[in-house]
Parts: sequence; structure tokens; C-alpha cells
Amino acid sequence: MKYLAVLPQFVFVWIVLCGSVYCQRPAVVKVGAIFTFDSVIGRAAKLAMEVAVSDINADPVILNGTELRLIEQDASCSVFLGSIEAFELIEQEVVTIIGPQSSSIAHMISEIANGLKVPLISYAATDPTLSSQQFPYFIRSTQSDYVQMAAIADLVDFYGWKEVISIYVDDDYGRNGISALDDALEKKMAKISYKLPLNIQFDQNDIIDALNKSKLFGPRVYVVHVNPDPRLRIFAMAQKLKMMTSNYVWLATDWFSATLDSFSPLNGTSLSNLQGIVALRQHTPESARKKAFLSQWSNMEQKGLASSGLNTYGMYAYDTVWAVARSIDEFIDENNITFSVNKDSLDIKVTGVQLGELKVFDGGELLRRKLLQTNFTGLTGQFKFNQDRNIVSYGYEVINIDKMEIQRVGFWYSDFGFSVLPPETLIAQKKNQSQLDQQLQNITWPGGKTERPRGWVIANEDRPLRIGVPKRASFAGFVTEEHSSHQIRGYCIDIFLEARKLVPYDVPYRFVPYGDGLSNPSYDKLVEMIANNLLGTLQFVTNRTRIVDFSQPYVATGLVIVAPINNRKSSAWVFLKPFTVEMWCVTAAAFVMIAVVIWILEHRVNDDFRGPPRRQIVTMFLFSFSTLFKTNQEATISPLGRLVMVVWLFLLMVITSSYTASLSSILTVQQLSTPIQGIDSLIANDWPIGYQVGSFSYNYLSESLHIPRSRLISLSSPEAYERALRQGPSNGGVAAIVDELPYVELFLKQRTDFGIIGQPFTKSGWGFAFQRGSPLAVDMSTAILKLSENGQLQKLRERWFCKKGCPEERNQNSEPHQLQLVSFWGLYILCVIITLSALFVFLLRVVRQFVRYKKREMLSSSSSSSTPTSSSSSCSQLIYNFFDFIDEKEEAIKKMFSHCENPQIHVNSATQQHGTSV
Ligand SMILES: *[C@@H]1O[C@H](CO)[C@@H](O)[C@H](O)[C@H]1NC(C)=O
Ligand SMILES: *[C@@H]1O[C@H](CO)[C@@H](O)[C@H](O)[C@H]1NC(C)=O
Ligand SMILES: *[C@@H]1O[C@H](CO)[C@@H](O)[C@H](O)[C@H]1NC(C)=O
Ligand SMILES: *[C@@H]1O[C@H](CO)[C@@H](O)[C@H](O)[C@H]1NC(C)=O
Ligand SMILES: *[C@@H]1O[C@H](CO)[C@@H](O)[C@H](O)[C@H]1NC(C)=O
Ligand SMILES: *[C@@H]1O[C@H](CO)[C@@H](O)[C@H](O)[C@H]1NC(C)=O
Ligand SMILES: *[C@@H]1O[C@H](CO)[C@@H](O)[C@H](O)[C@H]1NC(C)=O
Repeated sequence: MKYLAVLPQFVFVWIVLCGSVYCQRPAVVKVGAIFTFDSVIGRAAKLAMEVAVSDINADPVILNGTELRLIEQDASCSVFLGSIEAFELIEQEVVTIIGPQSSSIAHMISEIANGLKVPLISYAATDPTLSSQQFPYFIRSTQSDYVQMAAIADLVDFYGWKEVISIYVDDDYGRNGISALDDALEKKMAKISYKLPLNIQFDQNDIIDALNKSKLFGPRVYVVHVNPDPRLRIFAMAQKLKMMTSNYVWLATDWFSATLDSFSPLNGTSLSNLQGIVALRQHTPESARKKAFLSQWSNMEQKGLASSGLNTYGMYAYDTVWAVARSIDEFIDENNITFSVNKDSLDIKVTGVQLGELKVFDGGELLRRKLLQTNFTGLTGQFKFNQDRNIVSYGYEVINIDKMEIQRVGFWYSDFGFSVLPPETLIAQKKNQSQLDQQLQNITWPGGKTERPRGWVIANEDRPLRIGVPKRASFAGFVTEEHSSHQIRGYCIDIFLEARKLVPYDVPYRFVPYGDGLSNPSYDKLVEMIANNLLGTLQFVTNRTRIVDFSQPYVATGLVIVAPINNRKSSAWVFLKPFTVEMWCVTAAAFVMIAVVIWILEHRVNDDFRGPPRRQIVTMFLFSFSTLFKTNQEATISPLGRLVMVVWLFLLMVITSSYTASLSSILTVQQLSTPIQGIDSLIANDWPIGYQVGSFSYNYLSESLHIPRSRLISLSSPEAYERALRQGPSNGGVAAIVDELPYVELFLKQRTDFGIIGQPFTKSGWGFAFQRGSPLAVDMSTAILKLSENGQLQKLRERWFCKKGCPEERNQNSEPHQLQLVSFWGLYILCVIITLSALFVFLLRVVRQFVRYKKREMLSSSSSSSTPTSSSSSCSQLIYNFFDFIDEKEEAIKKMFSHCENPQIHVNSATQQHGTSV
């Protein structure tokens, strides 16, 4: 080596001896390394780099004739120390600095490296912001946390979690890593709900405080992103706080796998507290080279040369030294290594600070370019850099601690997502993501379960879900707190309780009444409180989706107009209006029935009902219809006939008087009428409009429909509705009320002289409100869908509101004053029963008489056997005899009537009989 200084104060030149014509190769090139010797990464990296240097110096192909000398400096995790050491190294004329290990130091000395043009190549600083244009001399020979956090976000998404808690160390590494995670999760519609930063020098109490605090939060998925910690204190403390149980999910970045890999030897005891943790490990493809190196390492471990196991950072450190050596080799083929005094720093010298020694590496820019062009196959696979000066990534392995072992459950690669095959195989197979199922092997979670943990708790026994319940003053059937018992009751509450049963986990809850109970509370306020985390859930409102989440609606609703109704037109057929069609039909049928029955009962004994068949039919119906006006000419004679007539006349009296009343009321009401046809005519007129206190219809009317607020009158109860509507717009009342359909249905249930005008003009529904992003909202919605599928919703509704028939089940088409068949049903039944009984009694008598007659006939035929009658009393014979008997008017009838009826009839029938027999 020849070392010549030309212009000693300003320029140092190495005269390089080498085989080429132009330059001489230097005997020694110096490379600096800054890292923390006593650290998980440092211990592995130190040995790996030393092995690499000796391998390179032993290799005749690379740096032939030149010794690579590594100058190591211990930064002891201190940014200050690290920076000083960077200056020291540069003073020793290193051409490249390998390291630093810590991202914070990297930030600092990247600036120094920029100024003095010394490339910085770090195998351990993973802070994604170091890739920025601010640090052109920073090259990263390990994977950026930007990639790692994308993997973590994919993992969170893969298992369907929406919220995580992050625990990180509050320095550049932790903060920027977590901020990358934030961005990555956002793309997956998930988020970090809580961030728990730890002091750089955190101790056990810091951990306990942070973890204990996090128990109160809902999410149970933790992402731990700290510096490698050989004691794994976070998990030890979590174990102590009973947070390594089946509710919890622990995801760790690759600090965790680096730590485990550096345990030497790794045995079960060190993993006993770590059951179920899922972590990432930088993936390096398997190769013969890697295998050989691993066995070399374990040899060294056995000989006591290695104080640590080999982790991926160690492997990257090894490859980094090779990359640097290769670049320098190429560099010195063409260039002399020269340093010059930084002219810019001359001015600073004036201030007295000795910066004169600081020299700028003249070939720095070229060497940086050569480093970035590196492309060789190393321990860690193909070793080359991408646009962002980061190593081209092979993705991550997903590991899971189970049965006191590290299980590799799959791989993550940015182009493929999760797979159980390593990415290099997939790349070789030229697969793309759409051809691949996202899959991982089964993971055993904390607590030993294999099914996916839910990842959050909505509440626990100590901290039940608080449910805001509006204390309604009117329409209290929906939901309110009872005054006397302070019980929360209502339709909505019942739905909530039923739906809760279908949610697949337990939700402890507590109702928190809201409002003073004297007037209906404002729903907007309540919704705001839910959004602001003051209250938990339950609310049924419409458009507040911007600030809270809603469940599936359980009641369909919309705004409707209620007004005194009269949409019937006068018509020529108004006389038909009082009865419904059924009523008319049944009444007509009754007339026919009475006609027939009376004829049967009477025609044998009553002359009026006799004669030719046609006359009999006319008489029959004339009699029946003339009963209506009490003008019937024919008198009933038989007692049964009279009985039937009494009941029939009573029925007729009731029906006619009802008809009269109904018709007159129809004719009177028709003179009142409302000109409101729908919302348009309501807006166009100047009349006051009523709305329910606290309802969103106020905002809707005033803001969306631009109705002047002076026209809007708040009404608090159904009674107030009725009063206001009855008073009418001219007497201080309202012309119409705009309210939500369910309330209106309830209001109209007992009132017939008001009605809904037109269709609902907004369509919406009532659901429960949840805090934005609450996972319970999804499960409640599913539960409500199930309720509506299995008919429970309808049953609840009937139980609360349909004691007298559901509002919409009422016959909407029937006119309010029309008389329904139902009202007279009993009377009709009575009439029919009595008529039929009379008929029955009559038939009994006839049969009895016939039997007697028959007996007598048999007697007489046996006495005078000269007439040969058929001895077999066949059925047709019997019937023939029966009609015979009726036509001939037996003496027996006369006898019977003479016993029990007045003599006049007896005489009548007697003469009749004479008449015919003549
Ligand atoms: C290394 O350099 C020596 C001379 O210095 C030369 O003889 C030898 O061939 C070189 N080896 C390789 C592999 O280039
Ligand atoms: C955790 O916090 C609760 C109160 O939130 C406290 O009562 C308990 O003692 C704390 N536990 C520890 C181990 O600090
Ligand atoms: C496991 O390692 C710990 C130290 O890390 C040691 O104390 C223990 O004896 C080892 N156990 C076995 C079974 O090797
Ligand atoms: C390197 O230094 C030698 C001797 O000073 C000189 O001859 C040669 O030109 C230099 N090479 C370059 C590329 O500057
Ligand atoms: C890197 O080297 C491999 C072969 O070792 C080659 O196939 C590949 O194209 C090279 N990449 C670049 C960017 O030069
Ligand atoms: C993974 O779990 C599923 C269901 O939990 C089971 O059917 C399957 O056999 C498991 N696979 C393996 C490889 O254990
Ligand atoms: C609901 O809608 C009305 C009118 O559209 C609006 O004034 C009100 O602020 C909305 N409520 C919320 C919570 O956004």
C-alpha cells in the first residue's frame, strides 16, 4: 500500500495499486458498521458480518488482493452516540457505513451520510419513512415496515376484524410503522381504534398500565410493534393480566420472530407464555447456500463462538456485507478511492468547531449507484433493490406459537396475499392472485381454540353495554320508562331482547333512560350522544346514518299526512252505502229463507198460502218482503210460524233502524270535506301543520320542504292530535298532521273520522342506532332479519298493538260509516237457529203423524185383505205413502188440531177438507 497525500490540508488521495493500467487496487478498503452490540439483532448481525468479511477475504474472486476491513462501532441504542460514531467512522475514511440498526439513528446519520456522500446501507432499520427522497444515501437491505404493515392489515382483514389496538414503542420506528399500519388498514376498511405508545425505555409498570387500560376498550386484537425484547415482557405482563385468553388476539411484527430465532437454544419453557401469538417473519427462500450457512452457524454455537441464534436480520447483515464488497470491487476496478475536504464546511471552521477533518467521499455517488444496481443470489435469495432503495421483498411467513413450538402456517406475498405455498414456488408457477385462494393453515389462538376469535367485546359484566332509551311521553307503547316501577318497557325493547337472543354471544347491557318523561326527547340529541360515546345503543330513527350506524330496520315507516277525512263523493247509489256487500247479500238471503220457511209452516193450515203453484210462489215472496213494511196481507196462523215471525221482525227492526242511522250520518258527513289531496296541496296552502314533538318530521318539513316554521305546530300526544285536528285551521287547530306511519296507525286505530291522505312521502325504517363501526350493528341486523323471517317481529307487533286487530289489517276500503256484517252476525245466527228449530219441530210432528197413519192403514189392510198391497214395505213405497198421506189430509190432523188449537181453525180446516174431497 502506498499512501500519498497531495496538499495535505485539503485533499487526500490514495494512490491505488492495482493490476489495471489506470489504477491500482488498494490493499485495504474500510467499511464502517454501526449497531448495538448487545441487542437481539446486534448479536446475530455482529457474528454474521464478521463471518461475511472473512468469507469475502478468503474468496479470490471478489476484491482480489484487497482486504475488506470492517470497523464496528457500538451505538448502544443511542441516537447521540450513533451520530458521533458516524463522524468517527467517516474520519477513518470508510467508503460505506453498514447500519445503523435503529431507525432513529438512521434518521440522524442519513443526513450526515447525505452531506459527506457516504452510502448508508442498513439491514435492520425498517421505518418506512427512511425510503423518502430526503435520504438518497440511505439504502435498506431489509424489508420496509410499509410492506410488513400491509401484511398485518391483510391478516386483520383475512380474519374479518375491523378494529385493532396497537402497542408500539414511541420512537421513529414504532410511530412510523404504526402510521403505515393505519394507512394499510384503512384500505381494508379497518382501523386502529386505540394506540398505546410505550416509552423507549419502557419498564414493566408501563406495560401493565397500558394493557390494563386497554382492557376497557372494545377491540381485542392487539398489534404489537416494539423493539426486539429478549424477555418478551409484554406477553409476560399480558399473561399476568389474564389477557392471553381466548377472547384475545395477539399479532406481532417481525421483532417477535427475530427475538425467538435468536434464542439459543430455543426450548419449550421460553414459549410457554406465548401460546396463540401470531407473528410475521421475513421470508427467505430455502437454498443450499442457506442450509450450509445454518449448519455453519450451529457449529459455531456448539463451539461457543455464537452467543445468539441466527435470525433473518443476521442473514440480511451477511448478505449486506457481500453486496457492499461486490460494489466496492466493481467501483475500484474503475476508480480511485479519494476523499476531499468538504469545502462547504470551511466556513463553519470559522466558528471554531474542528470540522476541517471531515472529508467528502468523492466516489460516493458512484458507489451508491453501484450498490443500488446490486443483483446477486445470496443467503436470503435474490439480493437486489427496488425503486425505493429497499430490498426486493420475498414477503413474510406467518408463524403461530402452538404446543410450545413455532408453527409456520403460511406465507404472505404482496402479489398473492396468503398462501400455504412459498411465494418463490408461486412465482415459478407464474400464478397470479386471482388464481389463488387466500388460505392459511389452522391457527391455534390464545386459549387453545382454533376457531377465529371474534376480536372484540362489546361489553362485559363490569362494563355493560349502555343502551339509551328515550323516555317517551306519548305513544309510550313503543318504548318508555314506566313511572311507577321504573321499568323500561315497550315494543322496541321486546324486539331488542328477542334480537339479542339471536346474537351469537352474550351482551351484558343496561338501559339508560333519556329524557324527562314529560315530553318526548329529541332524537337528534340522543343520536349525538351515541356518536360521542356517551350512550351505547338502541334507538329507532331514520337519517342519522352519517354519525351512527343503524341495524336492519324492524319497522317500515315513512312520513304521512293525517287529516279529517272525507274522500267519498255523493252518488246516486248512496242508499247502498250503509251496508257492505256481504251485509246486503246476507240480508237478501234471509228474506228468501223466511219466505220459504213460512210457506212450509203455513201452507197446510193457512188458506192464504194455497192455490196454484205460481200463486203460491208469489204469495211466499210478497209476504216475506212486505214484512219489511209491515204491510203483509197474510196472517200467520201456525204457532211455529208466529214464533219465527217474531224473531224475524225483531231482526228487521234492528237492521232498518241501523240502516236509517247510517244513511243519515253518511249524508251529513259528506258535507264536510278537506281540500288536502297530498303533500303538495298541504305546502301550497297557508294552514298550520302539526308534527310530533322531537320527531324528525319538523326538520324535514322546514328544511327539505321549506315550509315556514311559523306554520309548524308541535303536538305532544294523540289527544292533542285529535283536538287540533277537530278545531281545524281556522280555530287555532291544524289542517293536517305530518308524522311517521307507525305512530299514525296507532293514532287512527281508535279514530275513524281521520285518515291518511295519499301515500307515505318518505320511505325509511326504524332500526337500532349504534356507534359508528360497532360490530354489534352487523350482528343485530342479522338477528333482526332472522326475527322477521321466522315471524317473531309480526308476533311482537301483534302483542303490542293489535289487540283489536292490526291497523293495516282493517278493511281499508270499507267506508267508515258502512255497517259490517260482523255487527249483525249474532242476530242473524239467532234468527236462523230459531227458524231451523221451528222447522225441525214441524217435521217431527209430521213424521209422527205419518207413522200413526201408517199403523192405522196396516191395521185396516189386515182387516180387509182383499186389496193386495205389496207385502214388502220398501222405501219407495214408504215415500209414496208419505206423500199420499200429506195430500189426503188425514183425519189424524184434524184430531190433533181439535185437541190443541182453537175451534175456528179446526172448522176451517174441516170445511177445507170437505171442499176438496167433494
Ligand atoms: C488475483 O490477483 C493475482 C495477482 O495479484 C492474480 O494472479 C490472480 O489470477 C487473481 N485471481 C483472480 C481470480 O482474478
Ligand atoms: C387495572 O385497572 C383497574 C381499574 O381500572 C384496577 O382496579 C386494577 O388494580 C388494575 N390492575 C393492575 C394490575 O394494575
Ligand atoms: C430452557 O431455557 C431456559 C433459559 O432460556 C433454561 O433456564 C431452561 O433450563 C431450558 N429448559 C430446557 C428444558 O432446556
Ligand atoms: C488513479 O490514480 C492513478 C495514480 O495517481 C492515476 O494514474 C489514475 O489516472 C487514477 N485513475 C482515475 C480513474 O482517476
Ligand atoms: C439479476 O440477476 C438474475 C440472474 O442472476 C437475472 O436473471 C436478472 O434479470 C437480474 N436482474 C436485473 C434487474 O438485472
Ligand atoms: C382446520 O380446521 C377445520 C375446522 O376447524 C378442520 O375441518 C380442518 O381439518 C383443519 N385443518 C387442519 C389441517 O387441521
Ligand atoms: C336528518 O335529516 C334532517 C333533514 O334532512 C336534518 O336536518 C337532520 O340534521 C338530519 N339528522 C342528522 C342526525 O343528520
